[in-house]
Amino acid sequence: MVFRRKDRIELKTPAQFDLMRKAGLVVGHTLQRLAIEAGVGVTTGDLDRIAREELRKANAQPSFLGYYGYPAVICTSVNHEVVHGIPNGKPLDDGDILSIDFGAIVDGWHGDSAITIEIGTPIPEQTKLSNVTRASMWAGLAQSVADNHLSDIGHAVEKTIRSAGPYGILEEYVGHGIGTKMHMDPSVPNYGDPGRGMILQVGMALAIEPMVTLGGRHVHTLADNWTVVTDDGSRASHWEHTVAITEQGPWVLTALDGGAEYFAAHGVPSPASTRG
Ligand code: MF3
Ligand code: CO
Repeated sequence: MVFRRKDRIELKTPAQFDLMRKAGLVVGHTLQRLAIEAGVGVTTGDLDRIAREELRKANAQPSFLGYYGYPAVICTSVNHEVVHGIPNGKPLDDGDILSIDFGAIVDGWHGDSAITIEIGTPIPEQTKLSNVTRASMWAGLAQSVADNHLSDIGHAVEKTIRSAGPYGILEEYVGHGIGTKMHMDPSVPNYGDPGRGMILQVGMALAIEPMVTLGGRHVHTLADNWTVVTDDGSRASHWEHTVAITEQGPWVLTALDGGAEYFAAHGVPSPASTRG
């Protein structure tokens, strides 16, 4: 029998999406709290402890801790760190840009999401970088519709970023399928031509996560074997949501409102409009 990549895609039932929603809400509520707790003088290690406390309260398990030996429950990437920064004891500074990535498991089902925030006084070019990166994520989420092609997502992400300015879009790191594991097929690049790749189907769940820099797209990994930094030292933003492709449209499992506000404003049918 010919091995088809498509066979490796995990399709979820509506009941399984409801379980993934529970994980997604744990992630969404925790990131909301971390955004409030973060500030000048707070350490990323403090934020990791807060995330562990939220997991305990929610009776949820961490997705990241122990993943290929990863030592924390969140990733915290500061300034020229793009993704996979490890929480540490260094106080955050005024003017820092911080990405926080968090994943949780409820009843065996994963949710994965990331936000970017500024510490203390916002810096306009950083604020714009983060807004563009977030907008590109939402453009991709809005394309997460049955019968679209997989590359329609990356195309929408890329188009949003390119139309905003000369930003760097990472290519070595991509979004991914998600469900009973954090990383599953398919890979979801943040660039590409439309109308390519597999046809999206009801039951698929994807993590869409653009990683964008103020400079070039090239990155390398630090000696800690995790932290991904820009080659040119430029600062970066990372936003991520987990989305379910449902019969009624995209449902953003890690967004507290399921995506209702964005999809209503952009004319995208979504189950979030009635159920949140
Ligand atoms: N959330 C990240 C992603 O989407 C995963 C973090 S890597 C880990 O790819 F090892 F820390 F888990
Ligand atoms: Co992810």
